[in-house]
Amino acid sequence: MKDRSVLISPSILAADFSEPCHALDLISSLGLDYVHLDVMDGSFVPNITFGFKFIKDLRKRSDLVFDVHLMIESPERYIKNFAQSGADIITVHKEATKHLDRAISMIKEEGKEAGVAINPATSICEIENVLYLVDYVLVMSVNPGFGGQSFIPESLKKIRELNEIRKEEGYEFRIMVDGGVNLNNHKAIKDAGADILVTGEAFFKADDHESFIEEIES
Ligand code: DX5
Ligand code: ZN
Repeated sequence: MKDRSVLISPSILAADFSEPCHALDLISSLGLDYVHLDVMDGSFVPNITFGFKFIKDLRKRSDLVFDVHLMIESPERYIKNFAQSGADIITVHKEATKHLDRAISMIKEEGKEAGVAINPATSICEIENVLYLVDYVLVMSVNPGFGGQSFIPESLKKIRELNEIRKEEGYEFRIMVDGGVNLNNHKAIKDAGADILVTGEAFFKADDHESFIEEIES
């Protein structure tokens, strides 16, 4: 992997689902390492996407780091399935489980990297007790469920707060930001302390993908 100051994890939610491999090939050809896979159940969020069978089939065609964002109720029911489908990172929502510590521990027991995600209305203090356990904290900067929404600027405060806690406590989690990331706000998001930027529409709709990446990485 190339040494980068910030990582980009393109969300294929914004790609053409009739040609998912085309999106994976594009991401790889640009030298990126991650792909963000948004799993939605129509209950935790008002939208439905795909499940572990789809991810398992994509796995056969790609060496990218599969960054799987589970927007599903009680994710612990399916962690084993997603781990076995070839996910590298599995992120669960704090709001989707009564047993967050257990869900995160299950991901780690499967030998995968674990992330915890929080919705815009959730405060950092609600996940404080699992910060020592996780590899990623995903700050949702839109309400989850759809691509192409506008970045909620209040999210920057949460990124800064997480960055402070990380320094104070010596934690090693990486901060991932998801929703409405684009060329107008990436600098503020990075300055606040984000390490990984998820980008759907802005990435797939960019006229020139190489200059989009160069600008984000600059
Ligand atoms: C939203 C998803 C995001 C989404 C981001 O619920 O979790 O990953 O695909 O897409 P953009 O960048 O278009 O907001
Ligand atoms: Zn996502």
